[in-house]
Amino acid sequence: MKKSISPRPFVAAMPVVLVAVKNDENINFATHGMYGQLCNEPPLIYISVIKNHLTAKMINNANTFSINIPNSQLLEKIKFCGNVTGIEKDKSQTFDVFYGENDVPMISECPVNMNCKVYKIIDTKDMFVFIGQVVEMYSDEECLASDQVIATKVDPLLCTIQGKFFKMGIEIE
Ligand SMILES: Cc1cc2nc3c(=O)[nH]c(=O)nc-3n(C[C@H](O)[C@H](O)[C@H](O)COP(=O)(O)O)c2cc1C
Repeated sequence: MKKSISPRPFVAAMPVVLVAVKNDENINFATHGMYGQLCNEPPLIYISVIKNHLTAKMINNANTFSINIPNSQLLEKIKFCGNVTGIEKDKSQTFDVFYGENDVPMISECPVNMNCKVYKIIDTKDMFVFIGQVVEMYSDEECLASDQVIATKVDPLLCTIQGKFFKMGIEIE
């Protein structure tokens, strides 16, 4: 028997990423689950950011940001960056950073990093959907095979809308 429920997007699990952005000398980090791949050529990704978050304001200023894929060892910092807004507390010392093109900070502790420039912004009622073009990418060498990132070597996290965190599941085929 089916029950009708109020319409909202459902995804079983969202990838956990850390978004880093810099305005002048100020760096902010925030945890994001609404992240995805759009196409390969050009290499486009998206993040959806609630309009009043510091991340949204800073990306609108900088026109650049980075996507950093954390591993499960970073769970406490992931929760901190996902529960505390940079409007109220300086999160800039949470991670070590290195810089890519256009002075974009990327998180050293994260195995995979993508330096993005804003390609397009979709303005929805409560969120800005930032479509980013990946202009540079880095990976820890131990996560690579033939220059491709191997997800299981990254040890990435997934999260659900209920706020639960998961490690990647078991390969079945
Ligand atoms: C697992 C997880 C996923 C999240 N995903 C998003 C997201 O996709 N978009 C968003 O706007 N906020 C998301 N948040 C909430 C923000 O990380 C949180 O509100 C943060 O304090 C915003 O920081 P800022 O104001 O410094 O940008 C998520 C939080 C957690 C813990």
